Amino acid sequence: MMNILVIGSGGREHALAWQCAKDDKVNNVYVAPGNAGTALEPKCQNVVLVSTDENASEHSAIIDFCQNNAIDMVIVGPEAPLVTGIIDACRDAGIQAWGPTAYCAQLEGSKTFAKEFMEQNNIPTAAYKGFTEAVAAKAYIDEQGAPIVIKADGLAAGKGVIVAETIEQAYEAIDDMLADNKFGDAGSRVVIEQFLQGEEASFICMIDGKNILPMATSQDHKRAFEGDTGPNTGGMGAYSPAPVVTQDVHEKVMTQVIQPVVDAMNNAGHPYTGFLYAGLMIDEAGDPYVIEFNCRFGDPETQPILMRLQSSMVDLVAQGLAGQLPSDAQWDSRPALGIVIASKGYPETSSKGDVIAGLPELDDNNDNAVKVFHAGTAFSDSDAIDREKEVVTNGGRVLCVTALADSISDAQQAALAVTGAISFDGAQYRRDIGHHAIARENS
Ligand code: AMP
Ligand code: GLY
Repeated sequence: MMNILVIGSGGREHALAWQCAKDDKVNNVYVAPGNAGTALEPKCQNVVLVSTDENASEHSAIIDFCQNNAIDMVIVGPEAPLVTGIIDACRDAGIQAWGPTAYCAQLEGSKTFAKEFMEQNNIPTAAYKGFTEAVAAKAYIDEQGAPIVIKADGLAAGKGVIVAETIEQAYEAIDDMLADNKFGDAGSRVVIEQFLQGEEASFICMIDGKNILPMATSQDHKRAFEGDTGPNTGGMGAYSPAPVVTQDVHEKVMTQVIQPVVDAMNNAGHPYTGFLYAGLMIDEAGDPYVIEFNCRFGDPETQPILMRLQSSMVDLVAQGLAGQLPSDAQWDSRPALGIVIASKGYPETSSKGDVIAGLPELDDNNDNAVKVFHAGTAFSDSDAIDREKEVVTNGGRVLCVTALADSISDAQQAALAVTGAISFDGAQYRRDIGHHAIARENS
């Protein structure tokens, strides 16, 4: 029997923990720190891991927990611990941990590293230039014209990107990042990029240093409001598969994007292991351009992708850790679609402590065709007897209602039906998740 530790607290981690718990070989899935959803999931329990020794490395609490609880496998959800080297630290301690090393995680941790890496390895991406000075950045914007894209260099939870429609908006983004330091250190350096046109897709793989296992394709909706308008968010919904990724596009992505990453990291002496997420823009001709790399599974893409996964996630990760990833996994042929319900004020702010009503009972999910993954949720009173009734908001993205159905529009309707029954003060969600694919289905 196996014990697994999942690091993180989002909808992605709820989906990962739920998938791992389905495997009969698994005894316990610990989630650190988890959310109300992971606390309620069978075989899963939340743990709070903080080091008691303030001089110890920030990863020491995780390592201690693994050693004291016979953890067979650590799966790291979010980018922050990957960028600071949790995988390196676990490996040094002899712990099996799935993810990229700090070196490889720079692909997400530094936009400048990622852009230089793509340039050196001929990976198609938008033309760009990096700046630390506002005057020089504005001169470059004048030269390039609008629309143009301004990005904070470091990690900014998907919110450090401004797609400026006008020169004025671009100037404003530069002032916010370079002059006013709105994004802190993450924005002390900016990357200014050519605006790419096309349709986006998320291409996520598992890589074991040499073998590549592509996950089912997906597409997320980054903008806050319907019609893909409003500010960028961490993602307001996603679905899988993404019809824009045809067989031809898939092959191009593998040969022009993913394989070059694997080869270049090997040449640099830092084999890439873990999930790799290429955020792509697919142009009219079906040519992919990398918008960004993430060194982890996507959120909310994980939720619909893992709804479709029929292979055991635990087996895949074990094979990955052994350097024996297969080239295919088993997928439900039906599409899946997830709708994020966010709290009041998201993405600028978020609201905590609002009581969530209308959550379906755990086993009341019509033949496993709808699953409510939790993200920013907690219990109002951890001692309450009927804990399920006491779930409150605890962050920006609160839930992701995910449905499997025979078509993307049916999945959207099924997810909307459950979403509409859930309520809390200030709840907001988009009713048009999947609209690109639904338009294709209808035509
Ligand atoms: P990122 O955090 O780099 O993925 O950017 C967030 C979102 O901004 C992307 O999902 C795109 O919708 C948009 N975006 C980023 N870079 C570009 C670009 N060069 N051209 C067009 N849109 C972009
Ligand atoms: N859904 C976008 C991301 O995970 O970055």
